[in-house]
Amino acid sequence: MSDMRDLYQELIIDHGRNPRNFGDIPTANRCNEGFNPLCGDKIKIYILEKDNKIEDIKFKGEGCAISVASASLMTQALKGKSIKEAENLFHDFHEVVTGKATGEENLGKLSALSGVAEYPVRVKCATLCWHTLLAALHNKHEIVSTEE
Ligand code: FES
Repeated sequence: MSDMRDLYQELIIDHGRNPRNFGDIPTANRCNEGFNPLCGDKIKIYILEKDNKIEDIKFKGEGCAISVASASLMTQALKGKSIKEAENLFHDFHEVVTGKATGEENLGKLSALSGVAEYPVRVKCATLCWHTLLAALHNKHEIVSTEE
């Protein structure tokens, strides 16, 4: 178990320092911004959606290592997925990071964030990008806040 934790820790540090899919997509047809008022961290998600599929996804923003790592891992996990698959994955991810479920088998590398369940204040760091993603997919245009 501690080997697993070390591996998860390494993944978070790696993605926090060298985020994948960082940047914007000039041709994005869905995008939204999320904000955590508790710390001031912000994230913007860009999606190129075609035929209900996430063809491309990128993000930009400034945040703590966990929020950046979570967004990086999320973009990797969602490229090529359908919108329904993305929603299902968020549901499973949310259950695990909030400690409601332990089943990490469907999460792949996203499991690296399962440890935040022990630190409730960090759950918002891990889910900020996902709430922003859902708003973007549902074409909501207001800024998403973790405090609503
Ligand atoms: Fe701001 Fe983590 S401390 S999102």
